[in-house]
Amino acid sequence: MLDIENLSVSYKSNRNTVHAIGPITMAIESGDIIAMIGPSGCGKSTFLHVLSGIIKEYDGLVTLNGTGLNPKLHDIGFIPQNFGLLPWKNVEKNCLLSLKIKNKIIDSELIEKIDYIMNRLNIQDLKNRYPKELSGGQKQRASIARAFIMNPDLLLMDEPFSALDAITREEAQELFIDVWNQYKPTTIFVTHSIEEAIYMGKKIVIMSHCPGTIVKTIDNPLFNTENLRQNEEYLKLSSHIRTIIKKGWEV
Ligand SMILES: Nc1ncnc2c1ncn2[C@@H]1O[C@H](COP(=O)(O)OP(=O)(O)OP(=O)(O)O)[C@@H](O)[C@H]1O
Ligand SMILES: [Mg+2]
Repeated sequence: MLDIENLSVSYKSNRNTVHAIGPITMAIESGDIIAMIGPSGCGKSTFLHVLSGIIKEYDGLVTLNGTGLNPKLHDIGFIPQNFGLLPWKNVEKNCLLSLKIKNKIIDSELIEKIDYIMNRLNIQDLKNRYPKELSGGQKQRASIARAFIMNPDLLLMDEPFSALDAITREEAQELFIDVWNQYKPTTIFVTHSIEEAIYMGKKIVIMSHCPGTIVKTIDNPLFNTENLRQNEEYLKLSSHIRTIIKKGWEV
């Protein structure tokens, strides 16, 4: 369980102070997948940077499974918008990086899992390539493989599929949900796409303008529905969310 109480972040410099997000209070059950949608500049990346440990100065309380959030204690997978692959390491070494950092023993069971995930995400043949030798979609799949391989307590993704063309994006979403359903790490992802939020979010959190607060949280009744994109309810829910967003984003 991820518990966030009155989280608020301000960026302070000697010139000014920007109140970027909050206060935010939310509880996320283990095994949930949350889609966060909000206007540009409302603090979504800031929120993920707090949870991933990049931002250490914030007000409020964040606990993961009963203890204060701490990237040294918890395994937190973060996929930034540019995928975050290290350019000087090949795909295989990038994928195993977090295991190396945490000194995890790579036994036969783990090797089997790594092979399975790499095959599933179709990057087995790209193991020896460097990030600059990959397309956007391939980088994307490598960064997702890396996140699943580390078996995170919390998986964070900042607009994970925004750089992909429409069809590759739908394929990437389907692949992601397929593998996610197998391991079910607690996940929060940021998106600008209502369709993506409905396709991938068990819960959908709609944020206000900066400083972002929660306008509404929707339990998505359509999560994990087969052939969702052809479903009439999908269009109805999209239109419902669009209405809430328009109201919530009015200034
Ligand atoms: N390092 C920083 N110093 C000062 N202000 C910052 C800093 N980083 C972000 N901000 C401000 O904080 C607010 C939130 O920024 P953030 O990047 O979290 O927004 P976002 O919701 O991720 O936006 P987008 O959808 O465009 O990615 C914005 O007003 C931004 O200008
Ligand atoms: Mg952002």
